[in-house]
Amino acid sequence: MALLDDKKRARHFYKYFSKVYDLINPFFYSNEMRKIVVDMANVKEGDLVLEVGCGTGFTTYEIVRRVGEDRVVAVDLTPEQMVKAVRRFPKANFLRGDAESLPFKDDVFDASISAGSIEYWPHPALGIQEMARVTKPGGRVVILAPRKPDNPFFRKIAESIMLFPSTQQCVAWFLKAGLEDIRYVETGPYRFWSKLVVIVSGKKV
Ligand SMILES: C[S@@+](CC[C@H](N)C(=O)[O-])C[C@H]1O[C@@H](n2cnc3c(N)ncnc32)[C@H](O)[C@@H]1O
Repeated sequence: MALLDDKKRARHFYKYFSKVYDLINPFFYSNEMRKIVVDMANVKEGDLVLEVGCGTGFTTYEIVRRVGEDRVVAVDLTPEQMVKAVRRFPKANFLRGDAESLPFKDDVFDASISAGSIEYWPHPALGIQEMARVTKPGGRVVILAPRKPDNPFFRKIAESIMLFPSTQQCVAWFLKAGLEDIRYVETGPYRFWSKLVVIVSGKKV
């Protein structure tokens, strides 16, 4: 198991990393990438959207812009992260919760989105299955994951810290969760990091 693929360790890491998270995040994730994530969820104004692992609210901003602040329900394991998102979006609905055991009934949301959180889930297939379960039939599940590095040296270092799934692995998890019409985009924040992440979207049938 990688260092941060453990809920207790991820939770402790973010308790402290939270203090500088907003300064570091823009080096790895761009607004363009977050726009693609929400585009791939195919949401419209008034839809009820779940965000899993909302952190301090970078992706929440893009979802709020599309569907309206009070139509967003966001979950995160780390209160120190979420408290900043709560301040940014006081009309959105925030809950402390675990991606692998979402505190919602089946078929509630028009779409479920998670950007940059799956790499800390010890059982990513279960998290995707949970996102599919709470999404209405016809709705989309979208995740953004850091992609397995092509360079073996960087791959070894990266995978000792947290999960860096391949695109094929993500697609396999989506299929296992019963999702269909699977689409993906490999992208990144800079030209030299043009395939840092993979964004995968699938439809619940
Ligand atoms: C990279 S940050 C958040 C990214 C955020 N979505 C954004 O766009 O900036 C990852 C977040 O995932 C949360 N997290 C890690 N494991 C989780 C789990 N099992 N369930 C819910 N949230 C989790 C962490 O607390 C952290 O806030």
